[in-house]
Amino acid sequence: MRVLDHPSRSLREFRLLPALTPADASAPDVSLATSLCRSPTGEGATIGLTSPFVSAAMQAVTGRDMAVAIAQLGGIGVVPVSQSVEAQCQTVAAVKRFKAGFQTDLVTLSPGQSLSEVAALMERTGHTRFPVTDTGIFHGRLLGVLTDNDFDPHSDLGFRVADRMRKDVQVGVATRDLREANRLMVETGRGFLPIVSEEGTLLSVVFKKDRDKHLRHPAETVDSQRRLRVAAAVSTHPEDRERVQALLEHGADVLVLDASDGHTAYQAEMLETIRRVRDVPVVAGNVVTADGFEFLAEAGAAAVKVGMGVGSGCTTQAMKGTGRGQATALMDVAAARDRHAERTGQRLPLIADGGISGPAEIVVALALGADCVMLGNLLARFSESPGRIVRNRSGQDFKEYWMEGSARAANARRYAQTRAGFFEEGIEGWVPHEGSVYDGLPLLARALRSALSTAGCRTLAELQERAVLEPQSPASLAVAAVRGMEPRDLPA
Ligand code: IMP
Repeated sequence: MRVLDHPSRSLREFRLLPALTPADASAPDVSLATSLCRSPTGEGATIGLTSPFVSAAMQAVTGRDMAVAIAQLGGIGVVPVSQSVEAQCQTVAAVKRFKAGFQTDLVTLSPGQSLSEVAALMERTGHTRFPVTDTGIFHGRLLGVLTDNDFDPHSDLGFRVADRMRKDVQVGVATRDLREANRLMVETGRGFLPIVSEEGTLLSVVFKKDRDKHLRHPAETVDSQRRLRVAAAVSTHPEDRERVQALLEHGADVLVLDASDGHTAYQAEMLETIRRVRDVPVVAGNVVTADGFEFLAEAGAAAVKVGMGVGSGCTTQAMKGTGRGQATALMDVAAARDRHAERTGQRLPLIADGGISGPAEIVVALALGADCVMLGNLLARFSESPGRIVRNRSGQDFKEYWMEGSARAANARRYAQTRAGFFEEGIEGWVPHEGSVYDGLPLLARALRSALSTAGCRTLAELQERAVLEPQSPASLAVAAVRGMEPRDLPA
C-alpha cells in the first residue's frame, strides 16, 4: 500500500493568469484548431478538428442529429456502443451520407397506403410533407407528393395516398449544388424540392426551413471526399469484433474504445484485433495515471481519453472509491505523453472526458495538456441531442439525460460488468434545455478564444506551452462567483 502525499485537484479550482496580448492575438484571431488522434495515413499525420469538441459516446448525447451538428461545427461525434450493431451502423451511415441541405432521412409513402394511416403518421412525427415512391421506401421511383393541404383529415380518411397525391411535382434532376437546388425551390414556390436521378429515383429532398441552418459550414470536419467525419464507440468485449467490421464498412472514421477503466489487458487485445482488421485510428481509454497512458501508447492507441469518476451523473467514485480529480489526472498523463513523444517522436493527442460544465473548465483542461474535450451533460442540453424535452409546471423546459452506467442505458460492458451482476454507476435525470447546439457551441468557442487572447495565446499549442495556471483558495473561488446580486428577475 502506498498513499500519495498530495490530494488530487479538479479543473474547477484552477484559473489562468493573463499575459501580454500581442496585436495579432485578439479573440477573432485565435485558432482553436487541434488534433483528435494520430492518423494512419502518414508518419506524424493526425486527424484534425477546427474546434476541440467531441460529443460523448452516450445514448443521451450522440444520435444522428448531434453527430451531424458537431461535425458541421468543427468537432466530431462518437456514436455510442450501447445499442444494436444495426442501429449504430445506421447512424454512422446517416452522418456519412449527410449533405448540407439535402435531406436523405425521410419518411416516404407508398401509393396504396390509406390516408388514415398518413394522418396518424403526421400526428406522430409532426411532418406535413411526404414524397410518394412506387415501393414506399426512400430510394424508390418518385410518383408524387402528399402534403397536409392535399386532403381533408375529416372526410378523406377512407381514400388512399394515390387518390390525393399531387403528380405535377417540380423536381431537381440530379442537382448536386445546394445553391442551385435552393434557387429551384424558390422558383417553384413550394417549401420543398425533391431531387431525383436521371431515372426518376428519389435521391434527397431540399426544404426551405433548412435553407439557413444547413448552409455549408466553412469549418466543418470532413474526410477526403468531403463527407462529414464521425467516430463510433466499441467495447473491448470479444463479441464486438463483428461490430468493428460493420462500423468500418458503414464508414466510421475513428473507433473509440468505450470503457470506464482503460488500463486493462482487454484494451491491448482489442487494439491488436482492430489493427488486424484495418489500419483505422483507435482512441483508447479512459486512464488517469501515467502508467495507464504508457500502457495504451505502447499498445498502439491513436489518442488517449482521460477521466475517471468525474462525469456529471457518475456514481463510480461513490460505489467503488476509484477515480481522480481531473486536473491532476491530466497533469500526470500529459507529462507521460510528453516523455513518450520525446522518446518516440510521436505526440499522442489527449481527450479530457467528463465533468466539464462550461468554458472555464474547458480552457483549464486544454491548458493542462488536453487536445480535445469530450462533452456529455453540456451537449445533452441542446435540441439536437436524442433526449425528450419536457416542460415543468413553472414553464421551464428540461431534457432527459441519463448516464451510460444507469439502469436505463445499462451499458454493462463499459463497466466490465455482466448483465446479471449489473449495478448502477450513473444516474438518470434532467438538464435544462438550452436551445440549439448551432447557437450554443459557437458561443462556447467565442468564450475560449477570448480566454486564449487574454492569456496572450493565438493557438492551443501556444496555450499548452505558455499557460500559467494557479490553484485557487476556496475564498478566491467564492469571490469569483456571482454574489450579492439577484440574477435578472425581481425576487417575489
Ligand atoms: P459529463 O460531460 O460530465 O456529463 O460526462 C460525460 C462522461 O461521463 C462520458 O463521456 C463518460 O466518460 C462518463 N460516463 C458516462 N456514463 C457514465 C456513468 O454511468 N458513470 C460514470 N461515468 C459515466
